[in-house]
Amino acid sequence: MQPARLLFIDDDVAVCDVMRTTLTHRGFEVVCVNSGAAALAALEHEEFDAVVTDLNMPGMSGLELCQRAHASWPNLPIVLVTAFGSMETAVAAIRAGAYDFIAKPIQTQELLLTLTRALEHRKLKAENQQLRETVARFKPPADMIGDSAAMQELYSMLARLATTDATVLITGESGTGKELVAQAVHRSGPHSAGQLVAFNCAAVPDTMLESELFGHARGAFTDAKSNRTGLFLQANGGTLFLDEIGEMPLTTQVKLLRALQERKVRPVGSDREVPFDARLISATSRDLETDVSEGRFREDLFYRINVVRLQLPPLRARGKDALLLAEHFIARFAQQFKKPVAGLQPAAAERLLTYTWPGNVRELQNCMERAVALSQGEQITLEDLPAHVREFEGTKFVLPLENPTELLSMDEVEKRYILQVLQAVGGSRTNAAAALGFDRRTLYRKLKSYGVE
Ligand SMILES: Nc1ncnc2c1ncn2[C@@H]1O[C@H](COP(=O)(O)OP(=O)(O)OP(=O)(O)O)[C@@H](O)[C@H]1O
Ligand SMILES: [Mg+2]
Repeated sequence: MQPARLLFIDDDVAVCDVMRTTLTHRGFEVVCVNSGAAALAALEHEEFDAVVTDLNMPGMSGLELCQRAHASWPNLPIVLVTAFGSMETAVAAIRAGAYDFIAKPIQTQELLLTLTRALEHRKLKAENQQLRETVARFKPPADMIGDSAAMQELYSMLARLATTDATVLITGESGTGKELVAQAVHRSGPHSAGQLVAFNCAAVPDTMLESELFGHARGAFTDAKSNRTGLFLQANGGTLFLDEIGEMPLTTQVKLLRALQERKVRPVGSDREVPFDARLISATSRDLETDVSEGRFREDLFYRINVVRLQLPPLRARGKDALLLAEHFIARFAQQFKKPVAGLQPAAAERLLTYTWPGNVRELQNCMERAVALSQGEQITLEDLPAHVREFEGTKFVLPLENPTELLSMDEVEKRYILQVLQAVGGSRTNAAAALGFDRRTLYRKLKSYGVE
């Protein structure tokens, strides 16, 4: 690491000499000048990490120097050395933009402590600013619609991810946009020059999975007529997207873990290991934490793939995004079907907001495709929506005390409510625990005591 560069200002040459020796000895690079004007000139021409200035100097005072320097270099920490006991100047120093002040005569330990804090503060400030700039520069992908708080959160995560090639796990209910997000992560990251190789782990029989992933050597099994390059190697220099990773059988999971740990794959039937360089993004609509605790998914693999988690909110948690998405799909299908449809009638819009969308964005998309195809007017009406959406009346929560003659114990009330919440979130224990304000362990314990597996 480079030593921190200090600019030290005092009109007393003797003080400068002592401080130069002391601070150099402590690992700083020190430049001393004897007036405010000389300090400003030095700051113009050189980079410094911090400034320590005396207060009382002929010509420009330390306070004025502090004001001027702070105006031009707002991130530069300035420490003022004040005469002992002058609270007023101390307050004035902070107002003038000083980071801190110390009393004269300078105590080396105190100065070092103050400087360490000042430099740490400066570093954090710079890091924060950089992060803010990346986030501000990041535009949500054009094909991703939604400005709800839940989606803003996702965009901000995507922005932070843009400079890394971290391993990402995307989770969320079916149809929430996991594949779309995987594409966005790939496009914005450092591996974007390479290909995105997408593979659905549920789409091939278990017996073929390993040869798909790692490739195989000629003659490895009956149908292996020639060598085959697996997906890991096809994705070299780019990204491998393993969709539905929760469906992978345990035997393949072991091999996947090994490949990820060693950054090498061994094609089926070959004794050669081949290194690969691909980023891994995986996705699942399963509750992997539950699968881990129930032994269906390896915990060590889970930690490997779950480095950065992007949890996609269900559509019903995205408020008015449903309408933005509906308008977006209507415009798209109107163009595709060459129909003069634009927008929704209020009754239809209202229904889209009350319906719970178990199939999420994909269901909404299908629903709008059908509506545009059926539409005979210029706007989508309630009648254009499928019956189960049209007739949907909102979720009914049957509160345990609905029947006042049935007196229940607190435990029974709790049990019924917990089971209702579990059902409402589609069986996801992670989401149920979050809604109930329990940790998952507590939820498990309770479910077990109810005999729920
Ligand atoms: N925010 C969004 N803006 C626009 N289109 C979206 C958005 N989210 C999803 N879609 C569209 O909805 C459809 C479903 O998305 P996607 O296939 O990414 O979901 P998924 O979570 O991978 O679903 P599954 O779990 O069923 O595989 C796609 O056509 C996708 O383009
Ligand atoms: Mg998908």
